[in-house]
Amino acid sequence: MPEPGYVKQLRDLVGPAHVLTDEGITSGFVSDWTGRFVGSTPAVVRPADVDEVAAVLTLCSKHGVSVVTQGGNTGLVGGGVPLNGEIVVSLTRLTDLGEIDRDARAVTAGAGVTIGALQRHAEVAELDYPVDLASRDSATVGGTIATNAGGLRVMRFGPTRSQVRGIEAVLSDGRVIRHLDGLVKDNTGYDLGGLLCGSEGTLAIITAARLRLVPQRPERAVALVGFTSVRSAIAAAGQWSATVPDVEAIEFITAAGIGLLATHLALAPPFDPLPPAMLLVEAAGRTDPTAGLAEVVTGTDGVEDAAVASTSLDRHRLWRYREAHTEAINLEGVKTSPPHKLDVTLPQGELASFVEAVPEVVAGVAPRARTWLFGHAGDGNVHVNVTGIEGAGRSVDEAVLGLVASLGGSISAEHGIGTAKVQWLHLNRSEAELEVFRALRRAMDPAGILNPAVLVPR
Ligand code: MLT
Ligand code: ZN
Repeated sequence: MPEPGYVKQLRDLVGPAHVLTDEGITSGFVSDWTGRFVGSTPAVVRPADVDEVAAVLTLCSKHGVSVVTQGGNTGLVGGGVPLNGEIVVSLTRLTDLGEIDRDARAVTAGAGVTIGALQRHAEVAELDYPVDLASRDSATVGGTIATNAGGLRVMRFGPTRSQVRGIEAVLSDGRVIRHLDGLVKDNTGYDLGGLLCGSEGTLAIITAARLRLVPQRPERAVALVGFTSVRSAIAAAGQWSATVPDVEAIEFITAAGIGLLATHLALAPPFDPLPPAMLLVEAAGRTDPTAGLAEVVTGTDGVEDAAVASTSLDRHRLWRYREAHTEAINLEGVKTSPPHKLDVTLPQGELASFVEAVPEVVAGVAPRARTWLFGHAGDGNVHVNVTGIEGAGRSVDEAVLGLVASLGGSISAEHGIGTAKVQWLHLNRSEAELEVFRALRRAMDPAGILNPAVLVPR
């Protein structure tokens, strides 16, 4: 295909080395890491700073060229891949990390800074960035804000939205909005940073953010606890969120998931025999939480087995049982078909019934599919992963998300809507709300070029 004329102008704006057009190179930017979403692009543009982002968007607006913004490309709902031939604006060169303000406990970070790099930067000042997720060394500040990423510690610190104290972003016509003072109390009108959290690249391109940091909690303990049933595990998760001192994560895994880790990653199971359901719980503070954690675990109904770890190595060993799920499910997807990842939240009182019901609901519409369940039980968030779906993807999504909505849950807890869940958004959002979404898009992206296929399509 001949190169579109604007590609040369993009080269003039950001330098020829930062406009990628060779398919061998752009292939890494046009599909997601599950292999489910694969698109194509005439060019991947890699601006160096906010001014170059503004110049790129001004040009794209003028030519009516649609863009998909990309950070670490760790999204799971097809929101960051160019499924309709958009150009990709990759922000991984925006890696400025400001000096840490110890008094305010805050820092300004470029959109391309990874969460892992941000955490290490904060560590030097004995602080921590509280959002944490398994993809920490790829996922970026910009991407996690755009998706309002949750992760492992939401129950203690809230999602990304709770950390954003200021924002810098570029509107589609190239205007820059910058509000990075980061004051804790700032009632001067609309919270544009809050609005951009979860906007999935549809309202502006986020280029930097002022982020809250929290004191380090150097003393940590992790327990992996086996339960006699799913129901007893989920009941315990509800109790522990109130009773484990300094608790910051309660994660749910199943025997089937552990079996998958053994098959694909040769990970030896943690218990023999393997209980049907397990919780991984982490507590962290300034004093050693091990005894408090062990006491609560011991006194909990339905506990079948437990392993408690205090050393860093042992804690990582236990966390691997939880964090490796995504990788193992992707590998299972290579063998069968890429997973459908349905990330949902249920009211705590409905969580056990949902987890028990969902494999049968899936089997009802896709008899040969397998359902893998894990997630953040501390905040009611379960990841329903379905492999071997064989053309029944739409029916599976409809059945699972319909069940979620009927139980008063949300069809997206932390991954976003992307392109994968656009047709189900009405299950959680009224027509009046969707009309406000559309009006916001028209106001902030009059050219209609920002991630057009995502969330509420233009
Ligand atoms: C996780 O909790 O590990 C992430 O949300 C990724 C996933 O759901 O696979
Ligand atoms: Zn998750």
